[in-house]
Amino acid sequence: MALPFILENEVLIEVKAISINPVDARTRSGIAMADHLKHNNPLILGWDISGTVTSIGAKVSKFKKGDNVFGMINFLGHGKGYAEFVAASEVHIAHKPSNINHEEAAAATLAALTAWQLLVRYAKIKSGNRILIQAASGGVGHYAVQIAKHLGAYVIGISSAKNRRFVLGLGADEHIAYDEQRFEDVVSEVDFVLDAFAKDSLYQSLKVVKNGGTIISLLPMISEDVLQKAKEKNVVVQYSCRIEW
Ligand SMILES: NC(=O)c1ccc[n+]([C@@H]2O[C@H](COP(=O)([O-])OP(=O)(O)OC[C@H]3O[C@@H](n4cnc5c(N)ncnc54)[C@H](OP(=O)(O)O)[C@@H]3O)[C@@H](O)[C@H]2O)c1
Repeated sequence: MALPFILENEVLIEVKAISINPVDARTRSGIAMADHLKHNNPLILGWDISGTVTSIGAKVSKFKKGDNVFGMINFLGHGKGYAEFVAASEVHIAHKPSNINHEEAAAATLAALTAWQLLVRYAKIKSGNRILIQAASGGVGHYAVQIAKHLGAYVIGISSAKNRRFVLGLGADEHIAYDEQRFEDVVSEVDFVLDAFAKDSLYQSLKVVKNGGTIISLLPMISEDVLQKAKEKNVVVQYSCRIEW
């Protein structure tokens, strides 16, 4: 079998597990990153992986042969993660903690990084902040609940009733079932809304966020009408793909 060629700052990883996020499915169906990647032939999809280093480039300093690693390979570029072996820059991977398996590590890449970047780097959540997390049982949301709780926030999580125990088990202080009640009837004055549902709930989110608060949506676009209403309430509405890291 021909193995991928590695550059001097890259490692070769034998892939043990991958994870598939909405962006993978959308790209495969011809949207998301499909246009950007269309000139690659053959095109190998996949970004999130976990595996074992089998060789290292001359300038690699953080990893050695045999290390178990995980990461998001060349995200937004040609990841080539759906493969037995993948070449990865050493800045795209981290050592896999020994108390989680490869499947868990592969799953803790794009979804966890999204939650971490939004709550820690963008929102700078502080102890005592009141946070509403929509889709708290989902890929991004279930990490967001744990990270926000770790940072000392008061966390209100929304999911279906069947996932109530799961969301409370992650550390949420309160749970609202979207199939039992409307969250805007029972929540108010939150500092920060993370709308990981990313469908059509921005108007309701505007009702519950306090003056001066922030809403982050995982929607790819936000309407001018929502932005205008947010401005009137002195609320920042941001969508994650527009944030420059
Ligand atoms: N996964 C990623 O790494 C990632 C990164 C960036 C952006 N995004 C975007 O974020 C969005 C969510 O992706 P995901 O992977 O986190 O989701 P997911 O794992 O597919 O989960 C979907 C979530 O939506 C919840 N939900 C369904 N109907 C709802 C409603 N009416 N109100 C509130 N919540 C509802 C579900 O709750 P129940 O299961 O309890 O019904 C579940 O928690 C997608 O648009 C995706 O493109 C995802």
